[in-house]
Amino acid sequence: MLLTKEQIGRFDADGYLFFPALFGKPEIQVLLDEVPTLYAQRRPENVREKTGDAVRTNFAAHLYSAPFARLARHPRMVAPIKQIFGEDVYMHQFKINGKMAIDGDVWQWHQDYGTWRRDDDMPEARAMNVAIFLDDVNEFNGPLMLIPGSHRLGVLEAGHDLTTTSYPLWTLDHGTIEKLVARGGIVAPKGPAGSMILFHSCLVHASTSNLSPWNRVSVYLSLCAVSNHIRRFKRPGYIAHRDFTPIECLPDDCLLKDYDVPLPWKDGTPAEQLRGLLEAA
Ligand code: SIN
Ligand code: MN
Repeated sequence: MLLTKEQIGRFDADGYLFFPALFGKPEIQVLLDEVPTLYAQRRPENVREKTGDAVRTNFAAHLYSAPFARLARHPRMVAPIKQIFGEDVYMHQFKINGKMAIDGDVWQWHQDYGTWRRDDDMPEARAMNVAIFLDDVNEFNGPLMLIPGSHRLGVLEAGHDLTTTSYPLWTLDHGTIEKLVARGGIVAPKGPAGSMILFHSCLVHASTSNLSPWNRVSVYLSLCAVSNHIRRFKRPGYIAHRDFTPIECLPDDCLLKDYDVPLPWKDGTPAEQLRGLLEAA
């Protein structure tokens, strides 16, 4: 799948593109069926909500789950990103965010590239965020909120929030959000399972808690231009990947057929990926 000139223009202006129902129900079911098994595992990649046992984020499933390893190589997701950057991309981060019914907690306002620059020493904002809905997303189950055009301001001042949620994040203060929203408003793309959002890594975003009885499981992938790989390995390797191998796409039917994929972490997380290390070579 390639983007039209009009879509690229809209991405430059707004910082995001929304593709409702890009993946079909049978394709998404293959992924959804795998989630309970992944969330039940007691591995460090499962970060749980601070109020209980519900999984907030599962990291790096593409390294130990075949369906997610295939999604990580899906041409409908990878091709438009390579088109925008004009080069190969690698997987910088891979998350399955639970936002489970009743228990799903907030994500404070932030920019992903803010974290990647400060923590991982990623040289430029040449990494793309992708959200793929595994459940229907509606106004009640904590849809992702975006501030259109905010990516154009580059990296904004932020504070390191270690307490609000169960995941440390560089978050923006309320005065900044007021100004950004006065200028760009807020959008919250909603749609059926299988929908995809591409959004710029400087686009300011957040989501509220999920008090509805409906799960909002979504996959968040961050693909970085290979030449723009991170220079610092301060965070564990399952959060900020250190393998900069270009992604090679599988055929378009890869979620429905059992194409062979490597699963290097199937028997556990390699010890050296569990901790932060010194500067990258
Ligand atoms: C994120 O910002 O990475 C996740 C936001 C969400 O799950 O709503
Ligand atoms: Mn984010």
